[in-house]
Amino acid sequence: MSSWWLRAAERRVAVDPSLLSADFADLRGEMASLARAGADMFHLDIMDGHFVPNLTFGPPVAAALRRRTDLPLDAHLMVERPARLLDDFAEAGVDSITIHVEAADEPLATLRAIGQRGMKRGLTLRPGTRLETVRPLLGEIDLLLIMSVEPGFGGQHFMPAALDRVAEAAAWRRGGNFGFAISVDGGVEGHNAADCRAAGADILVSGTYLLHAANRAAAIRKLRGE
Ligand code: DX5
Ligand code: ZN
Repeated sequence: MSSWWLRAAERRVAVDPSLLSADFADLRGEMASLARAGADMFHLDIMDGHFVPNLTFGPPVAAALRRRTDLPLDAHLMVERPARLLDDFAEAGVDSITIHVEAADEPLATLRAIGQRGMKRGLTLRPGTRLETVRPLLGEIDLLLIMSVEPGFGGQHFMPAALDRVAEAAAWRRGGNFGFAISVDGGVEGHNAADCRAAGADILVSGTYLLHAANRAAAIRKLRGE
């Protein structure tokens, strides 16, 4: 059965702004602006200062954002031992949790625990981690997030090697009749979005390009290829 993301993506690629590049002093206004511009969901970059050398925000902020939007909240956990945070993020009301395969003591158990709490199960990996690492888990996920930058910071340059990983994951999906959606995260901009879509991406995460665009609606259309 295909996930809701896949059903949505059958119509067009979903655009998922990363709030890491937003004005943290006005997240309510930023989300309203992005929703008006056509955003499909919001990407919350959760960083603990240990798995990545940066510290952002956690469940209390996610809960505050939940009260201000009806769009899906897509939490990307760049944290050590993410299993310890599932209850708090479920309580906060996020719709999906994406964990790093490198950070979880037991990735399979953690993914199942995400699903048992009613959230979509996402899996991701650093650019330097072999893609084969996640292959055994493809039947246990709703979303595979392909990192096109080293996790930790926005504003980095897109790593073209990510396109090969998107294409390979899409081939595995077809071959294995899996239902996960494929998202690309990091340095995604108007000039490389078409390559991401052509490789098989269903969702595009964009921070710097989209949040800093003079016309956010036009930038979203550009990411969609409209
Ligand atoms: C990086 C984050 C990305 C990043 C995307 O660790 O996971 O979501 O914020 O932002 P840009 O588009 O600026 O790379
Ligand atoms: Zn992210």
